[in-house]
Amino acid sequence: MKFSKNERVLVLGGSRGLGKALIEILESQNIFAKSLSRKSEIQADFAKPETWDEILKKIIELQPTRIIYCAAGGPYGDFQKFSWKDHAWALKVSFEFPAFLLHSLLKNPPPQLLQICLVGSAIAEDQADPGAAAYCAAKHALKGLVSSLQKETSSQFLDLRLLSPGYMQTDLLPLGSEPRNSGKAKDPKAIAGQMIHSISDSARRHSCQSFD
Ligand SMILES: NC(=O)c1ccc[n+]([C@@H]2O[C@H](COP(=O)([O-])OP(=O)(O)OC[C@H]3O[C@@H](n4cnc5c(N)ncnc54)[C@H](OP(=O)(O)O)[C@@H]3O)[C@@H](O)[C@H]2O)c1
Repeated sequence: MKFSKNERVLVLGGSRGLGKALIEILESQNIFAKSLSRKSEIQADFAKPETWDEILKKIIELQPTRIIYCAAGGPYGDFQKFSWKDHAWALKVSFEFPAFLLHSLLKNPPPQLLQICLVGSAIAEDQADPGAAAYCAAKHALKGLVSSLQKETSSQFLDLRLLSPGYMQTDLLPLGSEPRNSGKAKDPKAIAGQMIHSISDSARRHSCQSFD
Protein backbone atom coordinates (compact mmCIF):
# COMPACT_ATOMS: atom_id res chain seq x y z
CA MET A 1 0.00 0.00 0.00
CA LYS A 2 1.20 3.51 -0.81
CA PHE A 3 2.68 5.64 1.97
CA SER A 4 0.25 8.27 3.26
CA LYS A 5 1.49 11.53 4.79
CA ASN A 6 0.60 10.53 8.36
CA GLU A 7 2.51 7.26 8.33
CA ARG A 8 4.94 6.45 11.14
CA VAL A 9 7.72 4.06 10.17
CA LEU A 10 10.05 2.47 12.72
CA VAL A 11 13.30 1.04 11.40
CA LEU A 12 14.78 -1.32 13.97
CA GLY A 13 18.51 -1.10 13.26
CA GLY A 14 18.41 2.17 11.34
CA SER A 15 21.56 3.88 12.64
CA ARG A 16 23.72 2.83 9.67
CA GLY A 17 23.83 0.66 6.55
CA LEU A 18 20.58 -0.33 4.88
CA GLY A 19 18.38 0.87 7.77
CA LYS A 20 19.88 4.36 7.67
CA ALA A 21 19.40 4.50 3.89
CA LEU A 22 15.72 3.52 4.31
CA ILE A 23 15.20 6.32 6.85
CA GLU A 24 16.93 8.89 4.62
CA ILE A 25 14.68 8.02 1.67
CA LEU A 26 11.51 8.11 3.78
CA GLU A 27 12.47 11.45 5.36
CA SER A 28 13.20 12.91 1.91
CA GLN A 29 9.55 12.07 1.11
CA ASN A 30 8.40 13.83 4.33
CA ILE A 31 7.45 10.55 5.97
CA PHE A 32 8.07 10.17 9.72
CA ALA A 33 10.78 7.52 10.20
CA LYS A 34 12.77 6.72 13.36
CA SER A 35 15.52 4.27 14.18
CA LEU A 36 15.79 2.12 17.29
CA SER A 37 19.21 0.58 17.94
CA ARG A 38 22.09 0.68 20.40
CA LYS A 39 23.45 3.93 18.95
CA SER A 40 20.21 5.62 17.94
CA GLU A 41 18.47 8.44 19.81
CA ILE A 42 15.86 5.82 20.79
CA GLN A 43 18.09 3.18 22.31
CA ALA A 44 17.44 -0.54 22.16
CA ASP A 45 19.70 -3.59 22.31
CA PHE A 46 17.93 -6.53 20.67
CA ALA A 47 20.55 -8.97 22.02
CA LYS A 48 19.35 -8.47 25.62
CA PRO A 49 16.22 -10.59 26.26
CA GLU A 50 15.78 -9.05 29.71
CA THR A 51 15.00 -5.72 27.96
CA TRP A 52 12.64 -7.08 25.26
CA ASP A 53 9.39 -6.24 27.11
CA GLU A 54 10.66 -2.67 27.61
CA ILE A 55 11.61 -2.37 23.91
CA LEU A 56 8.17 -3.68 22.89
CA LYS A 57 6.53 -1.06 25.14
CA LYS A 58 8.59 1.70 23.47
CA ILE A 59 7.63 0.42 20.01
CA ILE A 60 3.92 0.36 20.86
CA GLU A 61 4.08 3.87 22.39
CA LEU A 62 5.57 5.19 19.13
CA GLN A 63 2.40 4.03 17.30
CA PRO A 64 4.06 2.79 14.09
CA THR A 65 2.03 2.15 10.95
CA ARG A 66 4.96 0.09 9.58
CA ILE A 67 7.95 -1.64 11.17
CA ILE A 68 11.07 -2.63 9.22
CA TYR A 69 13.43 -4.94 11.11
CA CYS A 70 16.98 -4.50 9.74
CA ALA A 71 19.29 -5.48 12.60
CA ALA A 72 21.42 -8.59 12.22
CA GLY A 73 25.00 -9.74 12.51
CA GLY A 74 27.33 -12.43 13.74
CA PRO A 75 30.96 -13.45 14.08
CA TYR A 76 32.93 -14.24 10.91
CA GLY A 77 35.28 -17.23 10.89
CA ASP A 78 35.27 -20.93 11.76
CA PHE A 79 32.35 -21.83 14.06
CA GLN A 80 34.40 -23.42 16.86
CA LYS A 81 36.91 -20.56 16.94
CA PHE A 82 34.38 -18.27 18.65
CA SER A 83 32.89 -18.60 22.11
CA TRP A 84 29.24 -19.65 22.39
CA LYS A 85 28.20 -16.17 23.53
CA ASP A 86 29.21 -14.77 20.10
CA HIS A 87 26.92 -17.25 18.33
CA ALA A 88 24.14 -16.69 20.89
CA TRP A 89 24.41 -12.94 20.15
CA ALA A 90 24.00 -13.59 16.40
CA LEU A 91 20.94 -15.81 16.96
CA LYS A 92 19.29 -13.29 19.29
CA VAL A 93 19.74 -10.23 17.08
CA SER A 94 19.15 -11.93 13.73
CA PHE A 95 16.30 -14.28 14.70
CA GLU A 96 15.08 -14.49 18.31
CA PHE A 97 14.22 -10.84 18.85
CA PRO A 98 12.36 -10.45 15.50
CA ALA A 99 10.49 -13.73 16.28
CA PHE A 100 9.53 -12.37 19.73
CA LEU A 101 8.43 -9.10 18.12
CA LEU A 102 6.24 -10.85 15.54
CA HIS A 103 4.70 -13.08 18.20
CA SER A 104 3.91 -10.12 20.46
CA LEU A 105 2.46 -7.94 17.70
CA LEU A 106 0.35 -10.71 16.17
CA LYS A 107 -1.00 -11.61 19.63
CA ASN A 108 -1.90 -8.02 20.56
CA PRO A 109 -1.94 -6.03 17.30
CA PRO A 110 -1.72 -2.26 17.69
CA PRO A 111 -4.74 -0.91 15.74
CA GLN A 112 -2.75 1.44 13.47
CA LEU A 113 -0.08 -1.14 12.47
CA LEU A 114 -0.45 -2.12 8.79
CA GLN A 115 2.79 -3.79 7.81
CA ILE A 116 5.87 -5.56 9.22
CA CYS A 117 8.91 -6.10 6.99
CA LEU A 118 11.80 -8.32 8.07
CA VAL A 119 15.10 -8.04 6.29
CA GLY A 120 16.49 -11.46 5.33
CA SER A 121 19.44 -12.29 3.10
CA ALA A 122 19.23 -13.45 -0.52
CA ILE A 123 22.45 -15.39 0.11
CA ALA A 124 22.37 -16.67 3.70
CA GLU A 125 18.69 -17.65 3.97
CA ASP A 126 18.80 -20.30 1.21
CA GLN A 127 22.43 -21.42 0.92
CA ALA A 128 25.40 -22.37 3.07
CA ASP A 129 27.44 -19.38 4.25
CA PRO A 130 30.81 -20.79 5.40
CA GLY A 131 32.35 -18.62 8.11
CA ALA A 132 28.97 -17.20 9.10
CA ALA A 133 27.18 -20.35 10.29
CA ALA A 134 25.19 -18.82 13.16
CA TYR A 135 24.11 -15.82 11.05
CA CYS A 136 23.17 -18.19 8.20
CA ALA A 137 21.17 -20.41 10.58
CA ALA A 138 19.32 -17.33 11.88
CA LYS A 139 18.46 -16.13 8.36
CA HIS A 140 17.19 -19.61 7.36
CA ALA A 141 15.03 -19.59 10.51
CA LEU A 142 13.72 -16.08 9.79
CA LYS A 143 12.63 -17.15 6.30
CA GLY A 144 10.98 -20.29 7.71
CA LEU A 145 9.10 -18.24 10.28
CA VAL A 146 7.91 -15.47 7.94
CA SER A 147 6.94 -17.78 5.05
CA SER A 148 4.93 -19.97 7.47
CA LEU A 149 3.14 -17.03 9.10
CA GLN A 150 2.29 -15.62 5.68
CA LYS A 151 0.20 -18.78 5.14
CA GLU A 152 -1.52 -18.78 8.55
CA THR A 153 -4.97 -17.31 8.03
CA SER A 154 -5.03 -15.61 11.46
CA SER A 155 -1.98 -13.50 10.43
CA GLN A 156 -3.59 -12.16 7.27
CA PHE A 157 -4.71 -8.85 8.81
CA LEU A 158 -1.07 -7.64 8.73
CA ASP A 159 0.99 -7.29 5.56
CA LEU A 160 4.01 -9.39 6.46
CA ARG A 161 7.04 -9.26 4.13
CA LEU A 162 10.52 -10.70 3.89
CA LEU A 163 12.92 -8.37 2.03
CA SER A 164 16.13 -10.17 1.13
CA PRO A 165 19.03 -8.12 -0.20
CA GLY A 166 22.17 -9.49 -1.81
CA TYR A 167 25.62 -8.16 -0.89
CA MET A 168 25.76 -4.46 0.06
CA GLN A 169 28.65 -2.12 0.89
CA THR A 170 27.97 -1.80 4.64
CA ASP A 171 29.77 -2.49 7.94
CA LEU A 172 28.26 -6.00 7.94
CA LEU A 173 30.46 -7.09 5.06
CA PRO A 174 34.08 -7.57 6.23
CA LEU A 175 36.66 -5.19 4.71
CA GLY A 176 38.69 -6.99 2.07
CA SER A 177 35.98 -9.62 1.49
CA GLU A 178 35.45 -10.91 -2.05
CA PRO A 179 32.01 -9.29 -2.64
CA ARG A 180 33.43 -5.89 -1.65
CA ASN A 181 36.61 -6.24 -3.73
CA SER A 182 34.89 -7.66 -6.81
CA GLY A 183 32.28 -4.90 -6.90
CA LYS A 184 29.42 -7.41 -6.33
CA ALA A 185 28.30 -5.51 -3.23
CA LYS A 186 25.69 -2.87 -4.07
CA ASP A 187 25.14 0.61 -2.68
CA PRO A 188 22.64 0.24 0.23
CA LYS A 189 20.87 3.44 -0.94
CA ALA A 190 20.01 1.81 -4.28
CA ILE A 191 18.66 -1.31 -2.50
CA ALA A 192 16.73 0.83 0.01
CA GLY A 193 15.07 2.70 -2.87
CA GLN A 194 13.93 -0.57 -4.47
CA MET A 195 12.63 -1.81 -1.10
CA ILE A 196 10.56 1.34 -0.45
CA HIS A 197 9.06 1.02 -3.91
CA SER A 198 8.23 -2.63 -3.31
CA ILE A 199 6.70 -2.30 0.18
CA SER A 200 4.35 0.40 -1.06
CA ASP A 201 3.04 -2.00 -3.74
CA SER A 202 -0.11 -3.74 -2.45
CA ALA A 203 0.20 -6.44 -5.11
CA ARG A 204 3.26 -7.74 -3.21
CA ARG A 205 1.38 -8.20 0.09
CA HIS A 206 2.72 -11.23 2.06
CA SER A 207 5.67 -11.71 -0.27
CA CYS A 208 9.26 -12.84 0.15
CA GLN A 209 11.33 -10.83 -2.31
CA SER A 210 15.02 -10.76 -3.20
CA PHE A 211 16.88 -7.54 -4.05
CA ASP A 212 20.21 -8.43 -5.66
N1 LIG B 1 25.47 -5.99 3.96
C1 LIG B 1 25.20 -7.09 3.28
O1 LIG B 1 25.98 -7.52 2.40
C2 LIG B 1 23.92 -7.82 3.52
C3 LIG B 1 23.61 -8.91 2.66
C4 LIG B 1 22.41 -9.59 2.87
C5 LIG B 1 21.55 -9.22 3.88
N2 LIG B 1 21.87 -8.16 4.70
C6 LIG B 1 20.93 -7.82 5.75
O2 LIG B 1 20.58 -6.44 5.66
C7 LIG B 1 20.24 -5.97 6.98
C8 LIG B 1 20.97 -4.68 7.26
O3 LIG B 1 22.35 -4.97 7.26
P1 LIG B 1 23.47 -3.87 7.04
O4 LIG B 1 24.38 -4.44 6.03
O5 LIG B 1 22.86 -2.54 6.86
O6 LIG B 1 24.20 -3.99 8.46
P2 LIG B 1 25.00 -2.89 9.33
O7 LIG B 1 25.53 -1.81 8.47
O8 LIG B 1 25.92 -3.71 10.16
O9 LIG B 1 23.84 -2.28 10.26
C9 LIG B 1 23.23 -3.09 11.23
C10 LIG B 1 22.20 -2.28 11.97
O10 LIG B 1 21.68 -3.14 13.01
C11 LIG B 1 21.83 -2.49 14.28
N3 LIG B 1 22.14 -3.47 15.30
C12 LIG B 1 23.11 -4.42 15.28
N4 LIG B 1 23.10 -5.09 16.44
C13 LIG B 1 22.12 -4.57 17.19
C14 LIG B 1 21.63 -4.84 18.50
N5 LIG B 1 22.18 -5.79 19.29
N6 LIG B 1 20.61 -4.11 18.98
C15 LIG B 1 20.07 -3.12 18.23
N7 LIG B 1 20.47 -2.81 16.99
C16 LIG B 1 21.50 -3.54 16.49
C17 LIG B 1 22.97 -1.50 14.09
O11 LIG B 1 22.81 -0.38 14.94
P3 LIG B 1 23.68 -0.06 16.28
O12 LIG B 1 25.09 -0.40 16.01
O13 LIG B 1 23.39 1.39 16.51
O14 LIG B 1 23.07 -0.92 17.34
C18 LIG B 1 22.77 -1.05 12.64
O15 LIG B 1 21.85 0.01 12.58
C19 LIG B 1 20.58 -7.11 7.94
O16 LIG B 1 19.41 -7.83 8.26
C20 LIG B 1 21.51 -8.00 7.14
O17 LIG B 1 21.49 -9.33 7.54
C21 LIG B 1 23.03 -7.45 4.53
